[in-house]
Amino acid sequence: MESRVSHAPRRTVVVLAAGEGKRMKSATPKVLQPLLGRTLLGHVLVAAGAAEAERTVVVVGHKAEQVEAHLSEVAPAAVPVLQAQQNGTGHAVRIALEAVPDAAGTVVVLNGDVPLLRAETLAGLIEAHESGGRAATVLAAEVADPAGLGRIVRDARGDLERIVEERDASPEVRALREINAGIYAFDVALLREALGKLSTDNDQGEEYLTDVFGLLAGSGSPVGVFLAPDAEETLGCNDRAELAGLRARLRDRVNTAWMRSGVSILDPATTWVDVTVSLEPDVVIDQNSQLLGSTSVAAGAVVGPDTTLVDTTVAAGAAVLRTHSIGAEIGPEATVGPFSYLRPGTRLGRKAKVGGFVETKNAELGDGAKVPHLSYVGDASIGAKANIGAGTIFANYDGVNKHHTSVGEAAFVGSDTVLIAPVEIGPGAYVAAGSAIDKAVPPGNLGVTRAQQRNIEGWTARRRAGTVSAAAAERAEQAAADPAE
Ligand code: UD1
Ligand code: CA
Repeated sequence: MESRVSHAPRRTVVVLAAGEGKRMKSATPKVLQPLLGRTLLGHVLVAAGAAEAERTVVVVGHKAEQVEAHLSEVAPAAVPVLQAQQNGTGHAVRIALEAVPDAAGTVVVLNGDVPLLRAETLAGLIEAHESGGRAATVLAAEVADPAGLGRIVRDARGDLERIVEERDASPEVRALREINAGIYAFDVALLREALGKLSTDNDQGEEYLTDVFGLLAGSGSPVGVFLAPDAEETLGCNDRAELAGLRARLRDRVNTAWMRSGVSILDPATTWVDVTVSLEPDVVIDQNSQLLGSTSVAAGAVVGPDTTLVDTTVAAGAAVLRTHSIGAEIGPEATVGPFSYLRPGTRLGRKAKVGGFVETKNAELGDGAKVPHLSYVGDASIGAKANIGAGTIFANYDGVNKHHTSVGEAAFVGSDTVLIAPVEIGPGAYVAAGSAIDKAVPPGNLGVTRAQQRNIEGWTARRRAGTVSAAAAERAEQAAADPAE
């Protein structure tokens, strides 16, 4: 039966990720190098989503196990195909297509090391390729410095004739500044045929994918060039200096997009926001701050200066100043910092406060609860409006196990207290400053473990005679004895 509905075009994506990336000089394969929240490969796979492909094949080789493990996390549907020896980009695509014998329509090929490619640009390339009924289309860019890249060679009419690697190029071809970005669309049948004809007659003795263009053009098949709207998108990444360059460019791109959507970034040059972060309008980010991983910040919150948030949720109107936070949830209008360290499992309620030199871990603070100064709060729940005095330590670890402490609503823990877990301070209870508490304090009780104070009269005069302290004490005694003076 003939179907009347029009079918989506059939497409396969092939990502080339088998190379070592020698110039990185790293134990980590190049495509797994991190770049603002994703690996290089992760960025390419996200852009590749624009192809709406039936299947994505990723060619792996160098440290294949590591790359496959990463793939199973970030793109579990992608099919890894092993290229045991890296005999060139043409060889890699040939092996990839052998793994998908039923592939039809368009094959989109992407180098795994071109992370700034935009999805819209890839969509534009595919659209130009398919609507033009072409055999092959290459993404190209005009660049100031084409060193190391393949050059687009055009004929007298301006049509693509072939792509030539720099190391195989004549001085005339080297002078060309239109480069191959390493991103292509092909008709699958014509690509298979051309791949079967590749030679290794070049400076590296490899099968070059780029030679497919010369073969197709030479046999009269229509081939074309799609010019990237922004040459930056085509930048590859071969060493760590280039990686840092890409990082700075992506930072600027990410920051500009957030500013355009209503986020205030006071110093974009020192603000690093992973592509995986989400921000609402009227968030303010002050200088020297890093927002990483799955961090999200809601409207009106202020973050920074000098703050690192990893996988942290900041609710509306909160203020987080000079803080390092990992895996915490910061409630609406809560205040954190300066110099606070929030660790995983920290959950702060509305208007809760964590102040200077306070570390928290697996700790829940109710609405309006406060830990203002110099404390460690581990494995604890603290009720709404409770106040934890300066220098309080939640002693959660007995050397073998971790234990929980709970502090009830509106309880008041005096300064310099040790709460030895497991222990419970009831709602409305007080703990006297300087206590070491290891038994429950029932609701409304005062818990106190201090020794009684006694004063030894005249001690300074006897034991510290002749000191400034003794002189001060003597003057105070005389003044008390003769209040008229
Ligand atoms: C390639 C292009 C060049 C283009 C440049 C853009 C070829 C012959 N040249 O050169 O025209 O300007 O990209 O960045 O294609 N790979 C494999 N298996 C292999 C070889 C490479 O999977 O056998 C992968 C690499 O991991 C990398 C990609 O293919 O992700 C490109 O390989 P690379 O060696 O970096 O090619 P370039 O020399 O940069
Ligand atoms: Ca490259």
